[in-house]
Amino acid sequence: MPRVLTGITPSGTLHIGNYFGAMRPAIELQAGGDAYYFIADYHSMTAITDATERRGYTQGIALDWLACGLDPAKSVFWRQSDVPEVCELTWLLGSVTPMGLLERAHSYKDKLAKGMPANFGLFAYPVLMAADILLYDTHVVPVGKDQKQHLEMTRDIAIKFNLTYGETFVVPEERIREDVAVVPGLDCQKMSKSYGNTIEIFGDEKVLRKKIMGIVMDSRTPQEPKPDAEKNLAVQLLKLVAPTEVSADLESRLRTGGLGYGDLKKALFGHYWEFFAPYRARRAELAANPEYVEKVLIDGAERARAVAAQTMARARKACGLR
Ligand code: ADP
Ligand code: TRP
Repeated sequence: MPRVLTGITPSGTLHIGNYFGAMRPAIELQAGGDAYYFIADYHSMTAITDATERRGYTQGIALDWLACGLDPAKSVFWRQSDVPEVCELTWLLGSVTPMGLLERAHSYKDKLAKGMPANFGLFAYPVLMAADILLYDTHVVPVGKDQKQHLEMTRDIAIKFNLTYGETFVVPEERIREDVAVVPGLDCQKMSKSYGNTIEIFGDEKVLRKKIMGIVMDSRTPQEPKPDAEKNLAVQLLKLVAPTEVSADLESRLRTGGLGYGDLKKALFGHYWEFFAPYRARRAELAANPEYVEKVLIDGAERARAVAAQTMARARKACGLR
Protein backbone atom coordinates (compact mmCIF):
# COMPACT_ATOMS: atom_id res chain seq x y z
CA MET A 1 0.00 0.00 0.00
CA PRO A 2 1.52 3.38 -0.93
CA ARG A 3 2.41 5.59 2.01
CA VAL A 4 1.01 9.11 1.75
CA LEU A 5 2.57 12.08 3.56
CA THR A 6 2.06 15.80 3.66
CA GLY A 7 2.93 18.72 5.93
CA ILE A 8 1.37 22.08 6.62
CA THR A 9 3.32 25.06 7.92
CA PRO A 10 1.89 26.78 11.01
CA SER A 11 2.63 30.32 9.90
CA GLY A 12 -0.90 31.66 9.66
CA THR A 13 -4.54 30.83 9.80
CA LEU A 14 -5.68 28.21 7.30
CA HIS A 15 -7.68 29.37 4.30
CA ILE A 16 -9.92 27.61 1.83
CA GLY A 17 -7.01 27.30 -0.63
CA ASN A 18 -5.26 25.16 1.97
CA TYR A 19 -8.48 23.22 2.51
CA PHE A 20 -9.25 22.38 -1.13
CA GLY A 21 -5.63 22.19 -2.27
CA ALA A 22 -4.17 20.20 0.60
CA MET A 23 -6.43 19.17 3.45
CA ARG A 24 -9.43 17.68 1.69
CA PRO A 25 -7.35 15.52 -0.67
CA ALA A 26 -5.21 14.41 2.27
CA ILE A 27 -8.22 13.58 4.40
CA GLU A 28 -9.76 11.56 1.57
CA LEU A 29 -6.54 9.60 1.23
CA GLN A 30 -6.50 8.46 4.84
CA ALA A 31 -9.08 5.82 3.92
CA GLY A 32 -6.17 4.05 2.19
CA GLY A 33 -4.77 3.32 5.64
CA ASP A 34 -1.15 4.52 5.50
CA ALA A 35 -1.31 8.29 5.83
CA TYR A 36 1.25 10.49 7.58
CA TYR A 37 0.35 14.13 8.26
CA PHE A 38 2.41 16.58 10.26
CA ILE A 39 2.45 20.19 11.40
CA ALA A 40 5.64 21.61 9.92
CA ASP A 41 6.69 23.81 12.84
CA TYR A 42 10.40 23.76 11.90
CA HIS A 43 9.35 25.17 8.52
CA SER A 44 7.68 28.08 10.31
CA MET A 45 11.03 29.25 11.77
CA THR A 46 11.84 31.43 8.76
CA ALA A 47 8.38 33.02 8.71
CA ILE A 48 7.70 33.65 12.42
CA THR A 49 10.05 34.73 15.21
CA ASP A 50 7.55 34.98 18.05
CA ALA A 51 7.37 31.88 20.26
CA THR A 52 3.82 32.48 21.48
CA GLU A 53 2.63 33.04 17.96
CA ARG A 54 4.25 29.82 16.73
CA ARG A 55 2.68 27.82 19.57
CA GLY A 56 -0.70 29.39 18.87
CA TYR A 57 -0.64 28.63 15.15
CA THR A 58 0.54 25.08 15.78
CA GLN A 59 -2.30 24.48 18.22
CA GLY A 60 -4.76 26.12 15.82
CA ILE A 61 -3.68 23.98 12.90
CA ALA A 62 -4.00 20.81 14.98
CA LEU A 63 -7.59 21.83 15.76
CA ASP A 64 -8.27 22.71 12.12
CA TRP A 65 -7.12 19.35 10.76
CA LEU A 66 -8.90 17.32 13.39
CA ALA A 67 -12.08 19.38 12.91
CA CYS A 68 -11.97 18.93 9.13
CA GLY A 69 -11.88 15.16 9.40
CA LEU A 70 -8.37 14.00 10.12
CA ASP A 71 -8.87 10.80 12.07
CA PRO A 72 -5.96 9.84 14.35
CA ALA A 73 -7.18 6.24 14.30
CA LYS A 74 -6.57 6.11 10.55
CA SER A 75 -3.61 8.49 10.13
CA VAL A 76 -0.41 9.30 11.93
CA PHE A 77 -0.65 12.98 12.92
CA TRP A 78 2.19 14.75 14.71
CA ARG A 79 4.20 17.91 15.27
CA GLN A 80 7.35 17.88 13.12
CA SER A 81 9.68 19.02 15.92
CA ASP A 82 8.61 16.10 18.13
CA VAL A 83 10.70 13.92 15.79
CA PRO A 84 13.99 15.87 15.71
CA GLU A 85 15.70 13.13 13.64
CA VAL A 86 14.43 15.12 10.67
CA CYS A 87 17.14 17.73 11.39
CA GLU A 88 19.85 15.09 11.38
CA LEU A 89 18.61 13.79 8.06
CA THR A 90 18.54 17.36 6.71
CA TRP A 91 22.29 17.50 7.29
CA LEU A 92 22.98 14.21 5.54
CA LEU A 93 20.85 15.23 2.56
CA GLY A 94 22.22 18.78 2.48
CA SER A 95 25.69 17.35 2.10
CA VAL A 96 24.78 15.80 -1.26
CA THR A 97 22.60 18.72 -2.46
CA PRO A 98 24.23 20.94 -5.09
CA MET A 99 24.10 24.70 -4.44
CA GLY A 100 22.79 25.21 -7.96
CA LEU A 101 19.71 23.11 -7.21
CA LEU A 102 18.78 25.31 -4.25
CA GLU A 103 19.62 28.51 -6.10
CA ARG A 104 17.04 27.63 -8.74
CA ALA A 105 14.21 27.30 -6.17
CA HIS A 106 11.31 29.58 -7.14
CA SER A 107 10.02 29.90 -3.59
CA TYR A 108 13.41 31.11 -2.34
CA LYS A 109 13.74 33.63 -5.17
CA ASP A 110 10.15 34.81 -4.66
CA LYS A 111 10.65 35.28 -0.94
CA LEU A 112 13.81 37.34 -1.48
CA ALA A 113 12.03 39.41 -4.11
CA LYS A 114 9.31 40.12 -1.54
CA GLY A 115 11.94 41.49 0.80
CA MET A 116 12.44 38.59 3.22
CA PRO A 117 16.00 38.56 4.57
CA ALA A 118 18.11 35.82 2.99
CA ASN A 119 19.20 33.33 5.62
CA PHE A 120 20.36 29.74 5.75
CA GLY A 121 16.94 28.44 6.82
CA LEU A 122 15.19 29.99 3.86
CA PHE A 123 17.82 28.65 1.47
CA ALA A 124 17.90 25.16 2.98
CA TYR A 125 14.12 24.86 3.24
CA PRO A 126 13.81 22.39 0.32
CA VAL A 127 16.36 20.12 2.00
CA LEU A 128 14.34 20.06 5.23
CA MET A 129 11.29 19.31 3.13
CA ALA A 130 13.12 16.45 1.41
CA ALA A 131 14.05 15.11 4.84
CA ASP A 132 10.39 15.30 5.94
CA ILE A 133 9.42 13.12 3.03
CA LEU A 134 12.33 10.68 2.86
CA LEU A 135 12.45 10.04 6.61
CA TYR A 136 9.13 8.19 6.44
CA ASP A 137 9.65 6.10 3.27
CA THR A 138 6.92 8.11 1.57
CA HIS A 139 5.55 7.02 -1.80
CA VAL A 140 3.06 9.78 -2.56
CA VAL A 141 2.99 13.45 -1.54
CA PRO A 142 -0.30 15.24 -2.22
CA VAL A 143 0.38 18.96 -2.63
CA GLY A 144 -0.75 22.05 -4.53
CA LYS A 145 0.95 23.16 -7.75
CA ASP A 146 3.18 25.62 -5.89
CA GLN A 147 5.03 22.73 -4.26
CA LYS A 148 5.82 20.91 -7.50
CA GLN A 149 9.40 22.13 -7.67
CA HIS A 150 10.05 21.16 -4.05
CA LEU A 151 8.93 17.63 -4.86
CA GLU A 152 11.20 17.49 -7.90
CA MET A 153 14.06 18.61 -5.67
CA THR A 154 13.20 15.90 -3.14
CA ARG A 155 13.38 13.30 -5.89
CA ASP A 156 16.71 14.69 -7.14
CA ILE A 157 18.15 14.64 -3.64
CA ALA A 158 16.94 11.09 -2.95
CA ILE A 159 18.41 9.86 -6.24
CA LYS A 160 21.71 11.63 -5.56
CA PHE A 161 21.98 10.10 -2.08
CA ASN A 162 21.08 6.63 -3.40
CA LEU A 163 23.71 6.94 -6.15
CA THR A 164 26.33 8.15 -3.70
CA TYR A 165 25.72 5.70 -0.84
CA GLY A 166 23.59 2.90 -2.30
CA GLU A 167 19.81 2.38 -2.28
CA THR A 168 18.63 4.02 0.94
CA PHE A 169 15.54 6.10 0.25
CA VAL A 170 12.24 5.57 -1.49
CA VAL A 171 11.99 8.07 -4.38
CA PRO A 172 8.55 9.68 -3.89
CA GLU A 173 5.98 10.95 -6.35
CA GLU A 174 3.95 14.12 -6.11
CA ARG A 175 0.20 14.10 -6.55
CA ILE A 176 -1.22 17.36 -7.82
CA ARG A 177 -4.97 17.66 -7.96
CA GLU A 178 -5.46 19.51 -11.23
CA ASP A 179 -9.15 20.33 -10.64
CA VAL A 180 -8.34 22.35 -7.53
CA ALA A 181 -4.70 22.99 -8.29
CA VAL A 182 -4.82 26.72 -7.50
CA VAL A 183 -7.68 28.26 -5.53
CA PRO A 184 -7.85 31.98 -6.40
CA GLY A 185 -7.84 34.58 -3.62
CA LEU A 186 -9.97 37.71 -3.16
CA ASP A 187 -7.76 39.61 -5.63
CA CYS A 188 -7.76 36.72 -8.18
CA GLN A 189 -4.10 35.89 -7.53
CA LYS A 190 -3.37 32.50 -5.91
CA MET A 191 -4.97 32.51 -2.47
CA SER A 192 -2.10 32.72 0.00
CA LYS A 193 -1.63 33.93 3.53
CA SER A 194 1.35 35.94 2.31
CA TYR A 195 -0.79 37.92 -0.16
CA GLY A 196 -3.49 38.94 2.36
CA ASN A 197 -6.20 37.74 -0.05
CA THR A 198 -7.56 34.81 1.93
CA ILE A 199 -10.95 33.47 2.94
CA GLU A 200 -10.31 31.63 6.19
CA ILE A 201 -11.83 28.21 6.87
CA PHE A 202 -12.69 29.26 10.41
CA GLY A 203 -13.22 32.82 11.50
CA ASP A 204 -15.64 35.48 12.55
CA GLU A 205 -18.84 35.48 10.54
CA LYS A 206 -19.08 39.25 10.20
CA VAL A 207 -15.49 39.65 9.10
CA LEU A 208 -15.81 36.89 6.53
CA ARG A 209 -19.10 38.17 5.16
CA LYS A 210 -17.49 41.57 4.75
CA LYS A 211 -14.50 40.06 2.94
CA ILE A 212 -16.71 38.19 0.49
CA MET A 213 -19.15 41.06 -0.09
CA GLY A 214 -16.10 43.28 -0.64
CA ILE A 215 -14.79 41.30 -3.64
CA VAL A 216 -14.22 43.87 -6.37
CA MET A 217 -15.93 43.16 -9.69
CA ASP A 218 -16.30 45.11 -12.91
CA SER A 219 -18.87 47.84 -13.55
CA ARG A 220 -21.19 45.97 -15.94
CA THR A 221 -24.86 46.26 -14.99
CA PRO A 222 -26.79 43.20 -13.70
CA GLN A 223 -28.78 43.01 -16.96
CA GLU A 224 -25.75 42.89 -19.21
CA PRO A 225 -24.89 39.34 -20.40
CA LYS A 226 -21.46 38.15 -19.24
CA PRO A 227 -20.04 35.68 -21.73
CA ASP A 228 -16.96 35.31 -19.52
CA ALA A 229 -19.02 34.15 -16.48
CA GLU A 230 -16.78 31.14 -15.84
CA LYS A 231 -13.88 33.52 -15.12
CA ASN A 232 -15.79 35.36 -12.41
CA LEU A 233 -14.07 34.88 -9.05
CA ALA A 234 -17.29 34.27 -7.12
CA VAL A 235 -18.37 31.66 -9.68
CA GLN A 236 -15.03 29.89 -9.35
CA LEU A 237 -15.29 29.82 -5.56
CA LEU A 238 -18.94 28.76 -5.64
CA LYS A 239 -17.96 25.68 -7.62
CA LEU A 240 -15.93 24.62 -4.59
CA VAL A 241 -18.50 25.19 -1.85
CA ALA A 242 -21.96 24.89 -3.47
CA PRO A 243 -23.74 21.86 -4.97
CA THR A 244 -22.97 21.58 -8.71
CA GLU A 245 -26.52 22.41 -9.79
CA VAL A 246 -26.49 25.62 -7.71
CA SER A 247 -23.17 26.89 -9.06
CA ALA A 248 -24.14 25.93 -12.62
CA ASP A 249 -27.44 27.80 -12.30
CA LEU A 250 -25.81 30.97 -10.94
CA GLU A 251 -23.11 30.83 -13.60
CA SER A 252 -25.69 30.54 -16.37
CA ARG A 253 -27.78 33.41 -14.93
CA LEU A 254 -24.66 35.55 -14.87
CA ARG A 255 -23.87 34.58 -18.45
CA THR A 256 -27.31 35.45 -19.82
CA GLY A 257 -27.69 38.59 -17.71
CA GLY A 258 -30.06 39.41 -14.88
CA LEU A 259 -28.00 38.32 -11.88
CA GLY A 260 -26.30 41.15 -9.99
CA TYR A 261 -22.87 40.80 -8.45
CA GLY A 262 -24.28 41.58 -4.97
CA ASP A 263 -26.66 38.63 -5.14
CA LEU A 264 -23.92 36.40 -6.49
CA LYS A 265 -21.62 37.29 -3.61
CA LYS A 266 -24.44 36.79 -1.09
CA ALA A 267 -24.96 33.28 -2.49
CA LEU A 268 -21.24 32.62 -2.26
CA PHE A 269 -21.11 33.66 1.37
CA GLY A 270 -24.15 31.53 2.25
CA HIS A 271 -22.78 28.38 0.65
CA TYR A 272 -19.31 28.91 2.02
CA TRP A 273 -20.67 29.35 5.55
CA GLU A 274 -22.87 26.28 5.26
CA PHE A 275 -20.14 24.14 3.74
CA PHE A 276 -17.89 24.58 6.78
CA ALA A 277 -20.65 24.59 9.45
CA PRO A 278 -20.16 20.97 10.66
CA TYR A 279 -16.40 21.48 10.90
CA ARG A 280 -16.95 24.68 12.85
CA ALA A 281 -19.02 22.80 15.43
CA ARG A 282 -16.44 20.03 15.75
CA ARG A 283 -13.64 22.57 16.12
CA ALA A 284 -15.40 24.27 19.02
CA GLU A 285 -15.69 20.89 20.79
CA LEU A 286 -12.01 20.15 20.29
CA ALA A 287 -10.93 23.62 21.39
CA ALA A 288 -12.65 22.94 24.71
CA ASN A 289 -10.49 19.82 25.15
CA PRO A 290 -6.81 20.80 24.60
CA GLU A 291 -5.51 17.78 26.58
CA TYR A 292 -7.09 15.45 24.05
CA VAL A 293 -5.50 17.34 21.14
CA GLU A 294 -2.07 17.26 22.79
CA LYS A 295 -2.40 13.53 23.43
CA VAL A 296 -3.23 12.93 19.75
CA LEU A 297 -0.04 14.76 18.72
CA ILE A 298 2.18 12.98 21.25
CA ASP A 299 0.82 9.55 20.28
CA GLY A 300 1.32 10.44 16.61
CA ALA A 301 4.93 11.49 17.24
CA GLU A 302 5.63 8.17 18.90
CA ARG A 303 4.35 6.25 15.90
CA ALA A 304 6.19 8.53 13.45
CA ARG A 305 9.39 8.20 15.43
CA ALA A 306 9.33 4.42 15.21
CA VAL A 307 9.52 4.69 11.40
CA ALA A 308 12.04 7.55 11.50
CA ALA A 309 14.40 5.58 13.74
CA GLN A 310 14.59 2.77 11.20
CA THR A 311 15.21 5.07 8.24
CA MET A 312 17.88 6.98 10.14
CA ALA A 313 19.64 3.76 11.12
CA ARG A 314 19.69 2.77 7.44
CA ALA A 315 20.92 6.19 6.32
CA ARG A 316 23.66 6.41 8.96
CA LYS A 317 24.88 2.95 8.08
CA ALA A 318 24.84 3.68 4.35
CA CYS A 319 27.09 6.71 4.71
CA GLY A 320 29.41 5.20 7.29
CA LEU A 321 28.34 7.16 10.35
CA ARG A 322 27.92 3.90 12.24
P1 ADP B 1 0.20 29.84 1.76
O1 ADP B 1 0.42 30.06 0.29
O2 ADP B 1 -1.07 30.45 2.23
O3 ADP B 1 1.39 30.26 2.59
P2 ADP B 1 1.10 27.20 2.27
O4 ADP B 1 2.28 27.47 1.40
O5 ADP B 1 1.29 27.08 3.74
O6 ADP B 1 -0.01 28.30 1.96
O7 ADP B 1 0.37 25.92 1.71
C1 ADP B 1 -0.03 24.78 2.46
C2 ADP B 1 -0.63 23.77 1.51
O8 ADP B 1 -1.81 24.31 0.90
C3 ADP B 1 0.27 23.36 0.35
O9 ADP B 1 0.08 22.00 0.02
C4 ADP B 1 -0.17 24.25 -0.77
O10 ADP B 1 0.11 23.73 -2.01
C5 ADP B 1 -1.67 24.34 -0.51
N1 ADP B 1 -2.19 25.62 -0.97
C6 ADP B 1 -1.91 26.84 -0.49
N2 ADP B 1 -2.56 27.80 -1.16
C7 ADP B 1 -3.29 27.16 -2.10
C8 ADP B 1 -4.18 27.59 -3.13
N3 ADP B 1 -4.48 28.87 -3.29
N4 ADP B 1 -4.72 26.66 -3.92
C9 ADP B 1 -4.45 25.35 -3.76
N5 ADP B 1 -3.63 24.87 -2.81
C10 ADP B 1 -3.04 25.76 -2.00
N1 TRP C 1 6.55 23.38 2.29
C1 TRP C 1 5.18 22.96 2.38
C2 TRP C 1 4.28 24.17 2.17
O1 TRP C 1 4.70 25.28 2.35
C3 TRP C 1 4.86 22.32 3.72
C4 TRP C 1 5.66 21.11 3.88
C5 TRP C 1 6.75 20.96 4.68
C6 TRP C 1 5.46 19.86 3.23
N2 TRP C 1 7.25 19.73 4.58
C7 TRP C 1 6.48 19.01 3.70
C8 TRP C 1 4.52 19.41 2.32
C9 TRP C 1 6.58 17.71 3.25
C10 TRP C 1 4.63 18.10 1.87
C11 TRP C 1 5.65 17.25 2.33
O2 TRP C 1 3.15 23.97 1.85
